[in-house]
Amino acid sequence: MGEYVGIVGPNGGGKSTLVRLLNGLLVAERGRVRVAGFDPAAEPFEVRKRLGMLFQNPENGIVAPFVEDDVAFGLENLGVRRGEMRARVAQAMGAVGLEGYERREPHTLSGGEKQRVALAGVLAVEPEILVLDEPTSMLDPEGRGEVLEHVHALRGKRTILHVTHHLEEILDADRVLVLNGGRIVADVSPRRLVSDRGLLRENRLVLPTALRLASELGLLGPEGPLPRGPEELAAIVQERAGGRLRERETRAR
Ligand SMILES: Nc1ncnc2c1ncn2[C@@H]1O[C@H](COP(=O)(O)OP(=O)(O)O)[C@@H](O)[C@H]1O
Ligand SMILES: [Mg+2]
Repeated sequence: MGEYVGIVGPNGGGKSTLVRLLNGLLVAERGRVRVAGFDPAAEPFEVRKRLGMLFQNPENGIVAPFVEDDVAFGLENLGVRRGEMRARVAQAMGAVGLEGYERREPHTLSGGEKQRVALAGVLAVEPEILVLDEPTSMLDPEGRGEVLEHVHALRGKRTILHVTHHLEEILDADRVLVLNGGRIVADVSPRRLVSDRGLLRENRLVLPTALRLASELGLLGPEGPLPRGPEELAAIVQERAGGRLRERETRAR
């Protein structure tokens, strides 16, 4: 309960297939799928209450003319009472920073905002488990940041399965599953994943630039922070240099 699991792997590795098995869109020919004890193919309704999904394309989730109706959509399907629905919609919108967006028309929103509307719709259902299939891959950098901020804030509150091609998005995960050829080929900590060049290469995983630089500089050790971007890498380098880099820069001006 409350685990944050990253899921990565090459194209065709089986990530989306896993996701579709979990929500009952695909039925397993062999083996068994259980979500919180329920078979998604046999009891989709029980699974839908417990497992919320967010997909790549923020346009796909939008069904209603106003944001608040869109966020309420999943609850309507579950037959939640009017008063409770209102409270849950308000809370979910607050959780993704969309207070005041209730009467906005979804088509006027940015990609990041649309994706947050979709996330609010998922959260309103109050699922135990959240499954995110590349939720930022169609967003611009600002939109990605917005969505990730709110996803990461849910860490520890829900079980999260986060499929991504961007390793910097899952550096805080409790563990990372690597899927290749339809199998789990590794179940490791994010640190172990980004430090294991063989594992990365075999699964066509590319380190983000800041991590690649940190790796080349020998800064990816068994402890210490993992830099998500250039600013964090710069801070680590500065600290190692005891502030000398900044001094020199000042002198040069
Ligand atoms: N219903 C299915 N039956 C058999 N194979 C499938 C089915 N759906 C997808 N596949 C295959 O499973 C593999 C994994 O695809 P996918 O899960 O989309 O990968 P990923 O999301 O990791 O890029 C692909 O080779 C795809 O062709
Ligand atoms: Mg996929």
